[in-house]
Amino acid sequence: MNRSARREGVSVIQFEHRPGILDLSWGHPRPDLLPVREWAAAGADLDWKALTYGSSAGPDALLESLGDPERTFVTGGASHGLALLTQVLTQPGDVVLLDSPTYHLAFPILTDRGLELAHTIPSPTTPGPSTAGPTTPDATTAAPLTVGPTIAGPSTPGPATASTPGPTTASTIPAEPTTAGPTTAAPTTANTIPAEPTTAGPTTAGLTTAATTTLEPTTSGRVTAESITAEPTAGGGSTAAAGPDPALLVAQIRHFRKAGKRVRLLYLVPTFGNPTGASLPDQRRRELIEIARQEGVTIVEDDTYRELAYDGPAPPSLWEMAGGDPVVRLGSFAKTVAPGLRLGWINAEPEIIRRLTGLGYVHSGGGVNHTTAVTMAAFRTGGGYSQHVARIRREYRTQRDVLVNALRKRIAGRDVPVPAGGWFVWLPLPAGLTASALLPRAEERGVSFVPGSRFWADGSGGAGRIRLSFSHLSAIDLERAADRLAAAITATPSRQGRR
Ligand SMILES: Cc1ncc(COP(=O)(O)O)c(C=O)c1O
Repeated sequence: MNRSARREGVSVIQFEHRPGILDLSWGHPRPDLLPVREWAAAGADLDWKALTYGSSAGPDALLESLGDPERTFVTGGASHGLALLTQVLTQPGDVVLLDSPTYHLAFPILTDRGLELAHTIPSPTTPGPSTAGPTTPDATTAAPLTVGPTIAGPSTPGPATASTPGPTTASTIPAEPTTAGPTTAAPTTANTIPAEPTTAGPTTAGLTTAATTTLEPTTSGRVTAESITAEPTAGGGSTAAAGPDPALLVAQIRHFRKAGKRVRLLYLVPTFGNPTGASLPDQRRRELIEIARQEGVTIVEDDTYRELAYDGPAPPSLWEMAGGDPVVRLGSFAKTVAPGLRLGWINAEPEIIRRLTGLGYVHSGGGVNHTTAVTMAAFRTGGGYSQHVARIRREYRTQRDVLVNALRKRIAGRDVPVPAGGWFVWLPLPAGLTASALLPRAEERGVSFVPGSRFWADGSGGAGRIRLSFSHLSAIDLERAADRLAAAITATPSRQGRR
């Protein structure tokens, strides 16, 4: 909350209203889509049991509605779930591998526990139809080694790593922008978009491609990447993520091990990711599960956006594909119902659930966020939840289409990626234009966004990308915001001197 709002005694919400700015940076729900009355109705008939201490893993009715009660633990949202998992699965000093770009607010949750963050190296392209298992070169024998993780430790950020996924598929939307109101014209999916070029986009000086990267252990046990692919892509259009390169991932893990470090977690947002809106293809999901199993690493699948699928069902979760171990899954009701509920869940093997229910503060205070959890159980069993999710899916799909079409019309020649779910458009900027150069010009014109570099733990990638959220603004404001952004892009000189 900003200070002036606090002075006025309205420090109620985590939002800073900046007069005159249409802000595409907030990953918040549209206020009028929050189910205020429906939620109150769901809680209307609860009895005293909703207000006393709750059972450790959460109320049975909610656990049952979420699947397997033996493998579910109710949390105060995905952020809380992640913090809890670091507590029961890691020790300070352990390494967490991250897909990059990824959800930036996970970084401080991980470093709060004293964990070291390392970027994985993305594949240049998404996996093909091959069913071959992951390759597993040994970091000690592969020559030359082609990995180069970056570490952002709790206090000492490491050297740069940067790259973007090289997607191969895209969903397309109708050429005509839709107007406000739910649309029934679902976008189609095309599987024909070629992998993104690696030369067209803005690059960071001095960086080369991952294939030429040499892995050098340091005396501190860290691994440095002197030369890794910079933000390569222009061309947008695609929303399939490549994800971590399987062979390089194995080499990274083994290299850390050799240097005396334990790689404990691989944190992924594989479905409608934040910031990219992209999803990992099934083949890459299988490969990563196999590697995690083989190398003794736990995958934390942050599945926050799964229910917000606009073009058909979401891909299978890693948790389902693996049948449990080595995956733990984070769910949240923040996007589907309301972030203020601070309610979510963890799916994990019973042994991990036992560790969670055995935590001192659960023993002392009872199940997490019990009254809200009981209300959610009533909301779900009464049918309110599914009606609400169906409605917001239509609304957010419309908002996505409005923003994407507006951008396509106004930013001539740019191919705008169309996320098949979630809340974000990950927009490539014209060659040579950086988000940091664009931001002040955009704000002068009354529009804002999140610069892409925020989604790399060390800020080393994403210079030529911006994240635009279509969740918070109405359709009409999204159109206006696209106008302003297009004007700002045209007015901002690029590093190549183009306007
Ligand atoms: C990928 C991802 N994970 C977690 C969260 C936070 O979820 P919660 O509000 O349930 O803590 C967000 C919210 O933006 C997110 O985008």
